Amino acid sequence: MNKLVFKTEKALDEAAAGIIAALLQTKPDAVLGFATGSTPLGIYGELVRLHAEGKISFREATAFNLDEYVGLPRHHPQSFHAYMQKHLYDHIDILPQNRHIPDGSAPDPEAECLRYDELLRQAGRIDLQLLGIGHNGHIGFNEPAPGLIGGTHVAELSEQTRQANARFFPSFEEVPKFAITMGVGSILQARRILLVAKGADKAGIVRRALCGPITTQVPASLLQTHPRLTVLLTEDAAG
Ligand code: F6R
Repeated sequence: MNKLVFKTEKALDEAAAGIIAALLQTKPDAVLGFATGSTPLGIYGELVRLHAEGKISFREATAFNLDEYVGLPRHHPQSFHAYMQKHLYDHIDILPQNRHIPDGSAPDPEAECLRYDELLRQAGRIDLQLLGIGHNGHIGFNEPAPGLIGGTHVAELSEQTRQANARFFPSFEEVPKFAITMGVGSILQARRILLVAKGADKAGIVRRALCGPITTQVPASLLQTHPRLTVLLTEDAAG
């Protein structure tokens, strides 16, 4: 595990974007794994800047998102489809057919999970997976549980996760109860993982995930087994 600690969020965002940019420069057809939430916003801002300056292109790249809420159509403002459009895809040159996000409004969510796994299989391994971490240690929407699922599946969101994400919705009741998420098996198959955490409120879970026992009750702790994990933390998240 390679751990990098930054004084400011901006420095972290620049470093993370720099790692992604370096990958695209050496491997233009890289397969990227993207996350949503607050954590990657600044990183996407940096990628947009690097693209606008002509330093990187996503034209040959493919991207897979970790997850999507079940029941939200793609144009819903809180969907992860809308998030990716707004913060990244509207501003870069990645081809529409190479952007993959689970379809939360698919009539048969289980079939959608199988479709997504097949797309992942066809793409080969993800070269670089960007991850945030939930306060309960979730990655993607793989919540703490006695056992974890390897492939893409429908996950029930914990009360804590719904509370945390309620800030993006008009009310708590409107936060979906289920999501389609890539499984921990697919996440761990990525060639390289960037785990990012910002803010003092993440310090406790970052410590449990990286220094505590490997347990499915802290899904991010499984990342300790990954051969190429880079952890990027702000000073307050590093505790
Ligand atoms: C997002 C995702 C989640 C978030 C996590 C942290 O696609 O899969 O695991 O990374 O909930 O969210 P933020 O960054 O909002 O604290």
